[in-house]
Amino acid sequence: MADTDGMKETKNYHLDKPAKSQAFGLKGCNELDWGMKNRLSNIFRPETGRTVMLAVDHGYFMGPTTGLERIDVDIVPLLPYADTLMCTRGALRSMIPPTFNKGVVMRSSGGPSILKEISNEHIAVAVEDAVRMNVAAMAVQVFIGGEFETQSVHNMTRLVDEGLRYGIPTLAVTAVGKDMNRDAKYMRLATRICAELGASYLKTYYVKDFETVTASCPVPIVIAGGKKLPELDALTMASNAINDGAAGVDMGRNIFQSDAPHAMIQAVSKVVHDNMSPKDGLDLYQTLKNEAK
Ligand code: R5P
Repeated sequence: MADTDGMKETKNYHLDKPAKSQAFGLKGCNELDWGMKNRLSNIFRPETGRTVMLAVDHGYFMGPTTGLERIDVDIVPLLPYADTLMCTRGALRSMIPPTFNKGVVMRSSGGPSILKEISNEHIAVAVEDAVRMNVAAMAVQVFIGGEFETQSVHNMTRLVDEGLRYGIPTLAVTAVGKDMNRDAKYMRLATRICAELGASYLKTYYVKDFETVTASCPVPIVIAGGKKLPELDALTMASNAINDGAAGVDMGRNIFQSDAPHAMIQAVSKVVHDNMSPKDGLDLYQTLKNEAK
């Protein structure tokens, strides 16, 4: 029933307080729509502007990767420590509890397996399904210099168009082909092209002179972890990337292939969000690992 009788006079206009007009903290994202910013805030922690994305999408072309044989058993217990989960829709619907209420970054391109030319990808998720799953972003692999370069760029621009329609950010994942140099010159080229063509944020690998990659890319960059390294090396890589301007990590194998994944993800999170030194991160990792024994 409408409140018509005995209404209290309005009075709290806070005339001494100007309306707030705050800049959105993420690099290059200030002009995005509210929904986009809201979803990005479900990936990047607003307090730090950084993220620890737990990447478990490897099965989309590698099958049951070591450490991901049972996502329900081995990955679900790690979710409380991640800011965001990057996975496939198959894994999401079959193994991730819908009570998980942080950001989900949906692997949205695919096609070839590791047995074929991997740059020959197509879009693998309709934007309506991304909406249905309430994802925070759609991730698409882009193969600059690869055999199917143009096709992969086109996959990205189509997802960007569809994402803009629904307020869903697009993460461009720069993939480095077997015959390409994994260096700053290549990463600058690949990340800048993706950003210019509309990617909301980028994932790439950490390389020497990484600060030139982040400086020349107008939107946030997170780094992939890559192949499993000793824990101290992985923590050092994360720390260096943050110091060189990365907005976080999208880390998979260096977490789920660790001897103590729950300890490693907490150490990575401290390095990313609290600027913990790699050495202190390793101490934390070992303490948490020993406590669990
Ligand atoms: C590749 O399979 C995916 O894009 C991964 O999400 C990405 O490479 C990050 O995982 P990792 O840290 O294992 O490289």
